[in-house]
Amino acid sequence: MDDTAGLYVGLISGTSADSIDAVLISFAHGMPQLLAAHAHPWPAALRTQMLALAQGEAALDLDAFGRLDVALGHCFADAVQQLLEISGQPRDAVRAIGSHGQTLRHRPEGKHPFTLQLGDPCVLAERCGIDVVADFRRADVAAGGQGAPLLPAVHAMLLSRPGHTRVVLNLGGIANITVLDAGGRIQGFDTGPANGLLDAWCLRHRGEAFDRDGAFAASGQVDAALLDALLDDRYFSLPPPKSTGREYFHLDWLAAHPQLTATAHPADVQATLLELTARSVNRAIMQHAPDVEDVLVCGGGVHNGRLMQRLAELFAPRALCSTQRHGIDPDFLEATAFAWLARQRLLGLPGNLPAVTGARGPRVLGAVYLASRTDASTRMLSGAN
Ligand SMILES: Nc1ncnc2c1ncn2[C@@H]1O[C@H](COP(=O)(O)OP(=O)(O)OP(=O)(O)O)[C@@H](O)[C@H]1O
Ligand SMILES: [Mg+2]
Repeated sequence: MDDTAGLYVGLISGTSADSIDAVLISFAHGMPQLLAAHAHPWPAALRTQMLALAQGEAALDLDAFGRLDVALGHCFADAVQQLLEISGQPRDAVRAIGSHGQTLRHRPEGKHPFTLQLGDPCVLAERCGIDVVADFRRADVAAGGQGAPLLPAVHAMLLSRPGHTRVVLNLGGIANITVLDAGGRIQGFDTGPANGLLDAWCLRHRGEAFDRDGAFAASGQVDAALLDALLDDRYFSLPPPKSTGREYFHLDWLAAHPQLTATAHPADVQATLLELTARSVNRAIMQHAPDVEDVLVCGGGVHNGRLMQRLAELFAPRALCSTQRHGIDPDFLEATAFAWLARQRLLGLPGNLPAVTGARGPRVLGAVYLASRTDASTRMLSGAN
């Protein structure tokens, strides 16, 4: 019997930590198909704590670290339980959960590069009674890669069009692009900040978790001197492979620029941050995919009308639209990738693209955490028969 048959759950909370995205996926001929999706809210206090930790505003002792890992594991388990309820599928129909966890630190450079995701997979396996695959990034980092982005393989599978150069743009907390070129080559990297900075500035000045439809930004004027100074950051001109996170692009990074004056109007700064996202994405695409014919957008930023408008203006006359136009739900593509990665792990197949991450070679990603079983095969294995 095929030990990889069955449905897969994909789970992730991204750099914005806006929600836990959970999807139930079937694979027909290896192609992921979305059966059910659920965005599970984080408890507010936990989210505040995670964001403070992720951008280096708070520290944790080892006890608190261990407790946080377990608390997050329980939240991920709650999300899976709700997903299965919504889908009407029994847990026995699910072969495995692919859980990315919550990134608290991503430092793929330096003498001892590392990437750290929390959300105890053992808790998840125990609570759900389903095998879990987790820890997808570290094998790639150990092989000299960035451990990110891991989405391009799935973008290529679902959205490539032979003979056509297309870019898939994910507007998450950080923005990343996948270049699918006419010759079938796949490239991908993080271009820089997206929703993470917009959310943080909006929360500080409006008390709201995000700038709905970009209305706050649209009410201000771009500050050209500040924009130029921000665009001057060396990250934007680094060649790929490269990846980044909240530990780099956060409000202290913004404040470190003297062009951000104490009298700056908050709406103008929001407008400037939105423009920074649009310009840095546009620059990266024009540099790495000059013959791009269309740009398909996924991630929460697709709902920011102002940001989408600016991106469309910069890319004109090329087309820019949501992946929804191509039948792919833009809010759940990232979670879908982790269901696919879990299946790759069980098949013993690589999950990374070395040309994207910079790893020394293809690597099977993730570690398997088995759920406790009481069926005959396990009893035999444990010698209980
Ligand atoms: N209606 C909306 N208007 C403006 N922004 C929105 C809207 N809906 C969602 N967003 C933005 O999308 C963000 C969430 O996007 P997403 O879930 O793709 O990011 P993420 O979880 O950080 O993912 P990633 O791992 O790709 O960085 C929210 O924090 C918010 O900034
Ligand atoms: Mg999210």
